Amino acid sequence: MKKSKYNVAVVGVGAVGIEMLRVLKQRNFPIESLRVFARSARELSVDGQNYKVEAVCADGFNGIDIALFAGTEGEKGAAVTYAAEAVKRGALVIDNGADFRMDPKVPLVVPEVNAKDVKSHKGIIANPNCSTIQMVVALWPIYKKAGIKRVVVTTLQAASGAGRGAVAQLGEEIRQLIPQFDTGSLILDSDKNPASSIQHLASRSLPQQLAFNVFPHIGTFVDYDYTNEEWKLVKETQKIMHDDKIKISGTTVRVPVRTGHSESIYLETKKSITPEKARDILCKAKGVTVIDDPKKNLYPMPKDAEGKDEVFVGRIRKDPFVKNGLWLWVVADNLRKGAATNAIQIAECAISSSI
Ligand SMILES: NC(=O)c1ccc[n+]([C@@H]2O[C@H](COP(=O)([O-])OP(=O)(O)OC[C@H]3O[C@@H](n4cnc5c(N)ncnc54)[C@H](OP(=O)(O)O)[C@@H]3O)[C@@H](O)[C@H]2O)c1
Repeated sequence: MKKSKYNVAVVGVGAVGIEMLRVLKQRNFPIESLRVFARSARELSVDGQNYKVEAVCADGFNGIDIALFAGTEGEKGAAVTYAAEAVKRGALVIDNGADFRMDPKVPLVVPEVNAKDVKSHKGIIANPNCSTIQMVVALWPIYKKAGIKRVVVTTLQAASGAGRGAVAQLGEEIRQLIPQFDTGSLILDSDKNPASSIQHLASRSLPQQLAFNVFPHIGTFVDYDYTNEEWKLVKETQKIMHDDKIKISGTTVRVPVRTGHSESIYLETKKSITPEKARDILCKAKGVTVIDDPKKNLYPMPKDAEGKDEVFVGRIRKDPFVKNGLWLWVVADNLRKGAATNAIQIAECAISSSI
């Protein structure tokens, strides 16, 4: 069904949903009408534009062509409760959460890598996890040229990756701890006394204190003592790249950055590729910006990636000790390319292939 404009719904107005509203406007998405849903109704202002947020219900999807889901995951979440209702009413659902990503009937798409998979949807297309998206955008051009046998990745993930509650927690912790710096104390109260006020925030979204801290714990611990966030990097990458032979192993770490995930990626290619060639390929790759001049202190950083749609790659260098070993440092805005922008690019692909 090709139209010149579409009836669009955004479900969820947290960290990702708000960015979706921004990206729809910035990319001039062809919108006939826009409905915004969350658990409860309210007025919302984003960049000076007012939106009426309605309480979500199944009939709210009547007449909707494209439903962009950015609600909480899981049993009581928006997608599990309402995606099928939206599809039944004729909408194409693009879901940001993990609920459908590994369903064999649901394409998992990063347009720079597997845009053609959009065509095989049966009503739902899944947006991958934020850390997977930026990793595959950087790996894919190298994979096409030299093949990839193995990837070892450490992610350094920002607070906003865990939603608006986590950003609020980081802000509150910083406010509580900053005065202690003024006293010149080298030991913070929260270190001396685990039951200090930091531990007693009214709403806590993260499993540990994040201010002035990092912790290797995102999601829940599951098979082989990996977290489910670490398994997403494995399974989602293999699904998007249609290659379940790539050996991927990772550690996901939360860092006290507001927005912008960084990844230290080590890979072993099948064929040999020099760092110069890898740099050249990445410079020409869709969606990638290379910032790689370490002698001038130039490399990607999350503060510079915030608000941008590209995946930034730097520190491209070989492993002097292992044949075909290559290092990359990859940074992207988790709310933009890691979520909202990628979802809306999927919608654009669907439109151009006449969803
Ligand atoms: N943050 C990231 O970097 C990122 C990246 C990739 C994917 N994702 C995924 O994107 C989704 C949204 O994440 P977020 O970070 O934006 O979360 P968030 O900041 O916690 O916001 C969640 C939003 O979902 C709404 N919601 C929750 N349950 C709902 C339901 N049953 N029906 C309708 N709306 C419901 C909430 O409504 P109320 O406002 O009324 O409470 C809220 O607006 C999650 O699935 C997350 O895993 C996030």
